[in-house]
Amino acid sequence: MVIRNAGIEDSRYLFEWRNDPNTRNASLNTDEIHWEDHEKWYLSVLKNPKVVIYIAEDIPAESSPRGMCRFILSDETNSAEVSINLNPEHRGKGLAQSILHDAIEVFTQQHPQVLELTATIRAENLPSMKIFVSENFVPQRTHDGVVQLNLDLKG
Ligand SMILES: CC(C)(COP(=O)(O)OP(=O)(O)OC[C@H]1O[C@@H](n2cnc3c(N)ncnc32)[C@H](O)[C@@H]1OP(=O)(O)O)[C@@H](O)C(=O)NCCC(=O)NCCS
Repeated sequence: MVIRNAGIEDSRYLFEWRNDPNTRNASLNTDEIHWEDHEKWYLSVLKNPKVVIYIAEDIPAESSPRGMCRFILSDETNSAEVSINLNPEHRGKGLAQSILHDAIEVFTQQHPQVLELTATIRAENLPSMKIFVSENFVPQRTHDGVVQLNLDLKG
């Protein structure tokens, strides 16, 4: 499996995975996204150095990619918010943790100034809680059923 930066060719995949009903249930914003809004958003993201999206895929890329991992760099602090979304075809196969792990490794190599990663997860999203905790994220607080976690990279 390889982790690579997302490009314009991934737009349709990201759109479809984002609108998958399970993804919407897990998201803070559960609204369905319209293609026109997605395209506008994605074109702006590709030009925004504060947003890094990685795609995990097989080598050679024989089937659709396995999933994505997104990092949003904060303006004020040396931290970045992480989220993960797997291709629905590849969920429930135990792939998420290695994708999260490898994406964090690539991200921290490319952004050594980042000292902390954060994640925001619905408490009921047990698979997601499990993979982030397995990657050493620590739950900090829970509000309205949403857990804030962090991973200190300084140590
Ligand atoms: C959440 C998500 C990333 C998990 O990926 P996945 O590959 O389907 O998850 P896995 O099959 O690796 O399961 C992760 C772990 O949770 C466990 N798990 C799965 N369902 C569970 C449940 N209902 N209760 C408790 N544990 C559960 C699995 O057994 C596995 O643990 P293990 O490795 O010790 O066996 C994926 O389902 C996804 O993309 N969901 C939509 C988007 C999302 O929720 N993103 C997270 C918000 S940041």
